[in-house]
Amino acid sequence: MAPLTPRPLVSIIGGSGIDLEPMLSKRHACWPFAACPGLASATAPGHEGRFIHGEASGVPVILQQGRLHFYEGHDYAAVTRPVDLLRDWGVHTFLFTNAAGGLCASAPAGSLMPVAAVRTWPFRHWPGRPERLHPDLTLDTGTPPGCYWWVPGPAYETPAEIRALQRLGGAAVGMSTAPELQRCKELGLRAAAIAVITNTCGASGPLSHGHVLEQARNQSERLRRILEKQLPRLARI
Ligand code: HPA
Repeated sequence: MAPLTPRPLVSIIGGSGIDLEPMLSKRHACWPFAACPGLASATAPGHEGRFIHGEASGVPVILQQGRLHFYEGHDYAAVTRPVDLLRDWGVHTFLFTNAAGGLCASAPAGSLMPVAAVRTWPFRHWPGRPERLHPDLTLDTGTPPGCYWWVPGPAYETPAEIRALQRLGGAAVGMSTAPELQRCKELGLRAAAIAVITNTCGASGPLSHGHVLEQARNQSERLRRILEKQLPRLARI
């Protein structure tokens, strides 16, 4: 697919329930995943499944609203297809956001945790899965950067799994971002990630996706302000 004009230098990927659309001061075009060759439609609630080409903080961007997951039945190529498309459209820097559970005191529910490292739980449907990944950039949110543990989902973690992830040094746990980050590495693209901590793992009774979506929505405005401030610098470097 051809590069877009004005060239979108940065893509911001909005995870479960995270509303980043008000960041856009201009909108040039909007199209659903279904309009893209080889791209599956998003099925998870809270994932719109579309791209908006526009401008945020004076920077040409593409906002990706929603994403694809292994737990929807997709393979690695399908889950990471948006990265390939965005690269073809001109994007060189990726800002991934995701909803995640907090595993430690430095990442409480309501915080926005910069992802310093990603670790991945064993999963046989991801051949070539890297055990560790490191984003190229760590954005300052006021919360200490931490390690994001990727798990395949779709079930939330049991108490035993939570204890295991805590002992393994996890600060947050979620079901996305790792495959896309791996694809960025393969294609030589720059990436950063911020985990929106929607719940403290093991803090109360069973966790629902509805709770995660509501909390993600509540934290979106603060996340937008942080991203808006950092965008001009990210488009330059
Ligand atoms: N676990 C996994 N994924 C999540 C969580 C969680 O506790 N919260 C939001 N996404």
